[in-house]
Amino acid sequence: MHVSSSSEGILAQHAMPSVQDEPYYVAGADEVAVFEQCHQHQLAVMIKGPTGCGKTRFVEHMAWRLQRPLITISCHDDLTASDLVGRFLIQHDQTVWQDGPLAVAARQGAICYLDEVVEARQDTVVVLHSLTDHRRTIALEKTGELITAAPGFQLVVSYNPGYQRMLKDMKPSTRQRFVALEFDFPPERTETAIVAHEGGVDALVAGNLVTLAHQLRGLRDRGLAEVPSTRLLIAAARLHAGGIALERACELAVVAPLSDDDTLIAAMNDLINLTLRR
Ligand SMILES: Nc1ncnc2c1ncn2[C@@H]1O[C@H](COP(=O)(O)OP(=O)(O)OP(=O)(O)O)[C@@H](O)[C@H]1O
Ligand SMILES: [Mg+2]
Repeated sequence: MHVSSSSEGILAQHAMPSVQDEPYYVAGADEVAVFEQCHQHQLAVMIKGPTGCGKTRFVEHMAWRLQRPLITISCHDDLTASDLVGRFLIQHDQTVWQDGPLAVAARQGAICYLDEVVEARQDTVVVLHSLTDHRRTIALEKTGELITAAPGFQLVVSYNPGYQRMLKDMKPSTRQRFVALEFDFPPERTETAIVAHEGGVDALVAGNLVTLAHQLRGLRDRGLAEVPSTRLLIAAARLHAGGIALERACELAVVAPLSDDDTLIAAMNDLINLTLRR
């Protein structure tokens, strides 16, 4: 099971089961071996890459491979250190301490995955520091407890470069605690296999979608700020597998989410017609 937590959702203090079924993941390079080494040597991992390129799927896959529980935290600028570490709650006229997701992960020896970490404020992120160096501890200041992370605990963060906030917005003392893996869209053949598998279409249709994606990604230099991700191709494939014509599926799932600019939309629709009607 995969447990997610937002800042409001504080996790119960029970054991987290590991990811049960193998999450489908096709490796692009040596990332599986690198992650395994990092896990073995207690090194934290940072994954950089555009939206929809497989970062979350990779972490789910690694948690399954390593048979560790996975706790995911979506970061945003209101996230506080208490949201991560824990807080006192009032329950039946009593004040009880409730661990936050980071404290739960440290106790359970889980993989703790902070998605979009650059969105979190620096004063929040510093609570990670003592967990990512030789100390492997986290202090619960309000209870006076010092938790030493159980074996298997690993911190993983990810972010999309190019969004409003950048890596440079993170303190060097934070950045330099991570081994960084760079992700990008998979090579053509790999992406075709992924789109076919995840979208429920045959290799021919998947190949056409990937060819289209390459053409559209080429428009980046001509003003298209966001280019289609593997995720969008899978969405188009699923619509098509459900009975919608491929061109229409691409308009709905690939073109419309990318831009409001009429000129760019027309250029993208032309590319669809050229690529898919051949
Ligand atoms: N290498 C891959 N192997 C298997 N599936 C993949 C791979 N890359 C992408 N996918 C598919 O693309 C979808 C989107 O990937 P994922 O959610 O992991 O993206 P992400 O990089 O975490 O994006 P975001 O930054 O928006 O969170 C996945 O649900 C999966 O179906
Ligand atoms: Mg993700």
